[in-house]
Amino acid sequence: MADDSEMQEKIKTLNDWIQGSDNIVFFGGAGVSTESGIPDFRSQDGLYHQQYDYPPETILSHTFYVRHKEEFFRFYRAKMLCLDAEPNMAHKKLAQWEKEGRLKAIVTQNIDGLHQKAGSKNVLELHGSVLRNYCEKCGKSYSAEYMRDSKGIPKCTCGGDIKPDVVLYEESLDSQTLDEALRAIQQADVLIIGGTSLVVYPAAGLVDYYRGHKLVLINKDASAMDRRADLVIQGKIGEVFGALD
Ligand code: APR
Repeated sequence: MADDSEMQEKIKTLNDWIQGSDNIVFFGGAGVSTESGIPDFRSQDGLYHQQYDYPPETILSHTFYVRHKEEFFRFYRAKMLCLDAEPNMAHKKLAQWEKEGRLKAIVTQNIDGLHQKAGSKNVLELHGSVLRNYCEKCGKSYSAEYMRDSKGIPKCTCGGDIKPDVVLYEESLDSQTLDEALRAIQQADVLIIGGTSLVVYPAAGLVDYYRGHKLVLINKDASAMDRRADLVIQGKIGEVFGALD
């Protein structure tokens, strides 16, 4: 973290912007959930730096899912299903600001459902959610617990394979969710970006639609957007939000 007085100054500015706004949008990534014990992807200890038979980006692709479904679900159950994780201070403050009428929407790349678990209502999940699972044959829905407790390829009562409602590489994002996210960001007074490396499109491209002058970046590492931000706070987002009203 920067030296204390500079950090305190930045925290005060962020606090003033939040207390003075009724139209905040939050755009987040895997870094929002690391303080809940869920590893991110590209940090040093992230998923993409751990050793597997195939690179995780390959495993989490549509082609791999179709061709190696057993292997896909082995990785998915081991690494993508963290159902006992609890919301951290970052999730809790965002839910509080929504209740206070300050925060209008959360746009997240995460699929862990922790924002909803913290009480947030308007959560736009660009990459879907592990909490939603559907039979590829008849469309019947199943819980994340069912997927966790199943063996091999999860099967529907009709015999079809059950697929998680998460956007894999090569798959397209839900156009309505994307459109709602774009409009929320376009109209936002304050845009807070947190815990994302901003390297995966089209999600990362949404940030370009922000037209205000209160673009906040809170990240452990430097990101591609730092030079465009009006306020950059380098640190752990749960800690930073914990210091706010
Ligand atoms: N506080 C703040 N920032 C953090 C924290 C934390 N506690 N922990 C990690 N970070 C930062 C890291 O420094 C990193 O820059 O969060 C960022 C996480 O980046 P990624 O691991 O690339 O995750 P994300 O940006 O969400 O990835 C986007 O890639 O593989 C796809 O679909 C997957 O949704 C994911 C997408």
